[in-house]
Amino acid sequence: MIRFLLNNEPVELTNYPADMTVLQYLREQRKLVGSKEGCASGDCGACTVVVAELNASSDGLHYYTINACIALLSALHGKQLICVEHLADGATLHPVQQAMVDHHGSQCGFCTPGFVMSLFALYHSEHVPDRDHVLHALSGNLCRCTGYRPIIDAALSVCTGRVDDKFSRTSAATITALKQIFENTDDVGTSTDGLLLPRTRQQLAQSRESHPTAPLIGGSTDMSLEITQKLKSFSHLISLSQVDYLNQCTSNEQMISIGAAVSLSKAQYVLLDAFPQLSELFHRFASLPIRNQATLGGNVANASPIGDMPPVLLALSAQIVADNGAQQRNIPAAEFFTGYRQTALAENEWICRIDIPRLAANERFAAYKISKRMEDDISAVCAVFKVTLDDAQCVTGVTSGFGGVAATPVSCDALHTQLVGKSWADKTCLSLGSELLLNAFNPIDDVRASAEYRNTVLANLWKRFCYESQGSELPTRVVNYA
Ligand code: FES
Ligand code: FES
Repeated sequence: MIRFLLNNEPVELTNYPADMTVLQYLREQRKLVGSKEGCASGDCGACTVVVAELNASSDGLHYYTINACIALLSALHGKQLICVEHLADGATLHPVQQAMVDHHGSQCGFCTPGFVMSLFALYHSEHVPDRDHVLHALSGNLCRCTGYRPIIDAALSVCTGRVDDKFSRTSAATITALKQIFENTDDVGTSTDGLLLPRTRQQLAQSRESHPTAPLIGGSTDMSLEITQKLKSFSHLISLSQVDYLNQCTSNEQMISIGAAVSLSKAQYVLLDAFPQLSELFHRFASLPIRNQATLGGNVANASPIGDMPPVLLALSAQIVADNGAQQRNIPAAEFFTGYRQTALAENEWICRIDIPRLAANERFAAYKISKRMEDDISAVCAVFKVTLDDAQCVTGVTSGFGGVAATPVSCDALHTQLVGKSWADKTCLSLGSELLLNAFNPIDDVRASAEYRNTVLANLWKRFCYESQGSELPTRVVNYA
């Protein structure tokens, strides 16, 4: 059973198809057709809705956007779902809606509900947003006829003079209602619905045993494409969203550990604190609504050769921790990706967390993503480098990770064997590394880039890493995003 609030209405769902999307539920079951379907693949933002969840640290509510077209109903459990129909207060438009009117932010209007919902989440963000915040908030919304300037103007004007709206005024009641959902979830883990929602490690193991062919879903941003694009149906799915031990982040002086079901947006707080060099990569990772929904575990488990995080995990020598309910084992990232979308996980295993060693003071690290668009785009090439130096500034180790150049995320071991012992400041490191990378892989030509382009870019990114890091203080490359 899935329990949530649709605006202020408590909803309990049983016997719904496991593969029903939130957008299908809204439009087809509830006749709430304000949220639009444009691409049905998380690319356009026409379906953007807002989810409010209990914020454990502030005892308040955290509002965030998701793409309803690629979210399954499990994304709603224990949360408040708000869509464009809910914003107005009687006959009075919500301030973000009024700002869109005042600034002429809509022409054909197809994209407008999605933009309005992104602005609504921004309106409820903790800080007063500046232009960069606005651009990030709108990174998942496409408009093909108004143009973005009036929409950005609307966002800046409405968010600088924020006043309480009806959601702020009723937040205490919303918090009470959401807490009650979690007090009444004894039957969640034992549900016989097609969409299984285990809460504990044992329940997850039982779910896998009773439904061995049911796919696991984290944020469902990738799995949903099977449903909306390939028109597949799944009678059973096992959602990891409620499994307690998969939703934890921990850290100590040596290690950062991210639970497999932690969303990328939540993981980024921990990861960017330890690795500020990942700032640009993270902020260009898909779009904000997708990062709010997608999980680090999912990005690793789907083993895409163009996923953004696997190259990072390779370069940082991360460990993927696999679990089968009885025992756990560590799989080095370098051994995890065994073929095109294939992994070293056994059939009865799942990823429970990813352990990432922190950087030492003598390590230089940088991550680069090359894509056709700044936001919401897939890498043509992703390159991540880590170089370890001794006191004399000679190389003692090189680890690396690359996306978009092979059938799996890959490393280049030759960088290590050829450069160890060389002075980092010496031009040999620059020229030899770049020559190695020019010929290291046999990428394919496709719509994103030619093979020649990918090889050339890799070689040039190594040069850039050398120039940026040689002689500089750590961290090597930090792009400050809001
Ligand atoms: Fe395009 Fe959902 S319909 S992102
Ligand atoms: Fe037409 Fe944005 S107003 S697509």
